[in-house]
Amino acid sequence: MITEQFFNGRRMSLFEKMSDNSAAVIFAASEKTRSLDTEYHFRQNSYFYYLTGFNEPESALLLLKSGQDTQTILFTRDKDKLQEIWHGRRLGQAQALKNFDIDQALSINELTQQLPELVNGSDSLYFCQGETPEGDQAVTQLMASLRAGVKKNWRTPTVQIELRSILDEMRLFKKSEEVAVMRRASVISANAHTRAMQFIAPDQFEYQLEAEIMHEFASNGARFAAYNTIVGGGHNACILHYTENESVLNDGDLVLIDAGCEFNGYAADITRTFPVNGKFSVEQKAIYNLVLKAQLAAINMIKPSAQIKEANDEVLKIFTQGLLDLGIISGDFDEALEQQAVKEFYMHGLGHWIGIDVHDVGDYRSADRSRILAPGMTLTIEPGLYISEDADVDPKWRGIGVRIEDDLLVTVDGNEVLTKDVVKTVAEIEALMAQAQA
Ligand code: GLY
Ligand code: MN
Ligand code: MN
Repeated sequence: MITEQFFNGRRMSLFEKMSDNSAAVIFAASEKTRSLDTEYHFRQNSYFYYLTGFNEPESALLLLKSGQDTQTILFTRDKDKLQEIWHGRRLGQAQALKNFDIDQALSINELTQQLPELVNGSDSLYFCQGETPEGDQAVTQLMASLRAGVKKNWRTPTVQIELRSILDEMRLFKKSEEVAVMRRASVISANAHTRAMQFIAPDQFEYQLEAEIMHEFASNGARFAAYNTIVGGGHNACILHYTENESVLNDGDLVLIDAGCEFNGYAADITRTFPVNGKFSVEQKAIYNLVLKAQLAAINMIKPSAQIKEANDEVLKIFTQGLLDLGIISGDFDEALEQQAVKEFYMHGLGHWIGIDVHDVGDYRSADRSRILAPGMTLTIEPGLYISEDADVDPKWRGIGVRIEDDLLVTVDGNEVLTKDVVKTVAEIEALMAQAQA
């Protein structure tokens, strides 16, 4: 668990980055209707969560800075006996003041009236525009009220600053408390993949594997996946974000599972690919080992001062040579590399930041992800090869889709693979599955 002291430390870091005589306002997510009068399970806005750890909708955080003085104000829902009997507990303002290291807790019903009075006189307003409709509306109203208050000598901030550029940079670097939570999310997710490998048998349906994955998540306190679970048998593995998960799993096919839980607000993101019947065919093994070789080479390169781009360049070289050796592409190595011949089979990037969001925030510096890596960054490494059913190759390769994905923490002297607890060599996978079948 991340403590309130830690969340407060983040607010203090943000205060340090704010200009003098400024205000910052951050809004909670709202509940989303699934159908008629039922809602999706509530998921807090990532920025609001990052600064508060508070998991209720209809809330807002206001930070005011003037010289050395700072004020932290949390707007929350009111206590409401009837609503709480029907829909669940609400913290309310009195308890919020006790639980959080804040200066004031106010009712969200007073937001429209209180915001202009509190923000009046600030020179700058920090805000994540476009993050929530409620937030956009509240800030528009705030500015209109301040302008309308000119007769009372109210002063409207003259500068509006995009808050995300500050928070994204803060979120990119994980502190040890966050890494501890991410390690737990990774272990739970790794165990879910192990469970799926142990459970699988030909003629099951993809959704049955999804059920095993979700069981392992939920029974370990991670009730929700960080993203929709992908279980793709056979050529479904070649659909990168396949989530229908309703096909039968055929003897002789591979299955690709891309699944990670969200635990205490942090995501894991793991992909493993393994044979439905427990034994890789010759062709499956050849493609699998090529992807694994590329993934291990890329992981080896992840360290301070390296770039995702450099690791991806190495993956492209390994794939180009490997596909030439297997006869899947033809021609000269340098030409094939130059023409990006492997792009037909490897059409996504090598990896992305991961954290509170599975595709986490943070500037990559360029489209090919050339930002210099530094300790505390967390990212995925996920090369894949996907040979579609209509690929112009020897038919024996068609319908093979393989991705192998792990989550890494950049450390002072290299990296730590957070998701290492699930096997990934052919020998390890076959041994685990044989043991489960015995
Ligand atoms: N699970 C989505 C991804 O791997 O990026
Ligand atoms: Mn990923
Ligand atoms: Mn993934």
